[in-house]
Parts: sequence; C-alpha cells; structure tokens
Amino acid sequence: MDWTSTIYGSYGPSLQRVMDGLVERIQAYSADVKEKSGEAAYEHLLYRIKSPDSMMEKCLRKGLPQTAYSALHDIHDAIGLRIVCCFLDDIYRNIEAIKAIPGVRVVEEKDYIQNVKPNGYRSYHMIIDIEAPYEDVEGNNPGHFFAEIQLRTIAMDSWASLEHQMKYKHDIKNPEMIVRELKRCADELAACDLSMQTIRNLIHADH
Ligand code: GTP
Ligand code: MG
Repeated sequence: MDWTSTIYGSYGPSLQRVMDGLVERIQAYSADVKEKSGEAAYEHLLYRIKSPDSMMEKCLRKGLPQTAYSALHDIHDAIGLRIVCCFLDDIYRNIEAIKAIPGVRVVEEKDYIQNVKPNGYRSYHMIIDIEAPYEDVEGNNPGHFFAEIQLRTIAMDSWASLEHQMKYKHDIKNPEMIVRELKRCADELAACDLSMQTIRNLIHADH
C-alpha cells in the first residue's frame, strides 16, 4: 500500500507513471524546440499528484463519495501540471505540442486568457485524457487517465500565487478595494505580457 491508497486505492502507482510519462513527453518536445530555435518552449514545468487529503476534501465539496472512482473518473485533476511560459505565444505553441502527443485527447479547454475571470485571473486550462498501458478505474486496459494542465506566463503565475496566498489571509478590512486593486494589478501585468511579446517579435523580425 502506498501513501495515496486512502483515496486512489490501488491506482496510485499507475497515476504516478502516467504523470511521469506525460512529463517526459513534454520535456522531450521542449528539448527539441530548444535545439531547433535556441529558445526554450517554457520557463518551467511543475507537476503533482493531488494529495489524498485535498482530493478527499474535493469529493466532499462536490457531494461525491470519497472513492477512487470519484477521484479518477468524476474529478479530473488528480494529475496536475503547470507550464509557465516567458511569452504569450509560447502558451499557444505548448497547447499545440500537447495536443500532438500520441494517446492524448483534449476533453475540456478553458481559456481564461481570452475570457479573463472577473477577479483578473488569467491562465489556459486543459483537461486531457491520456491512454496508457495500465488498468483504469473502469477496468479498461489500456486505461484512460485524466490530467489538468494549466498554462500561463510568468506574470500570470506571479499574480495567481500572490492572489492565492492572500485568499487565505483573514481580517481583510476593505474587501472591495482589495478586489479592485488585485484586478488592476492583473490588468497591468497583462499589458506587460503584451509589450514583452511585441518586443520579442521585433527582436525576431531583426534576425
Ligand atoms: P474544480 O471543480 O475545483 O476543478 O473547479 P473548476 O473546474 O471550476 O476550476 P477551474 O478549472 O476554473 O480552476 C481550477 C484551478 O485553477 C484551481 O485549482 C487553481 O489552481 C486555478 N484557479 C482558478 N481560478 C483561480 C483564481 O481565481 N485564482 C487563483 N490563484 N487560481 C485560480
Ligand atoms: Mg477544474
């Protein structure tokens, strides 16, 4: 029994292997891009299996039984990746590269860059279904495993980290002002992302 078995049952090790396989694929195309263009596909990549505690909490919050079936079939972010990019264009290049990975099928896309959340949150979210040579929670082998991939720029990522931290601080005296200021910061960072993209395009046009 491994540490994830409380909620993931016997599927924890497969989940880990599926995630590792996906990460390897992404690192492989990134190395390719770097070799061909001299520039990295992304700035950094984070990944995690959702902790059993937070998966249990999510099942509860969604009114689902705390079972491996809920965690792996009804909830789609047991595997989570975050790809942080230097430039806006890189986000869309990574999306195309992910879609081209064999065995990957996109099941949901949320473009919070075009459709900014009211609080200013920006990011591109994808839920993918990965076919892999392990039994899944429905008994299929090869099985199907979901993963959530979040793609954002460094600026979007820094805003999301700070906003996330502050959400958990209590005793905020003037919430409307805080919300407005956070939104303003997000919009300023978005303007910087556009400027940085323009500067990059100008540099490339010169070469
Ligand atoms: P779930 O059922 O929890 O998956 O909700 P959802 O599918 O409506 O969530 P969504 O795909 O919009 O976002 C899921 C993840 O995106 C969260 O766990 C966060 O990591 C991130 N996220 C979404 N909105 C915000 C936000 O306003 N602020 C920050 N900091 N992160 C956010
Ligand atoms: Mg979600």
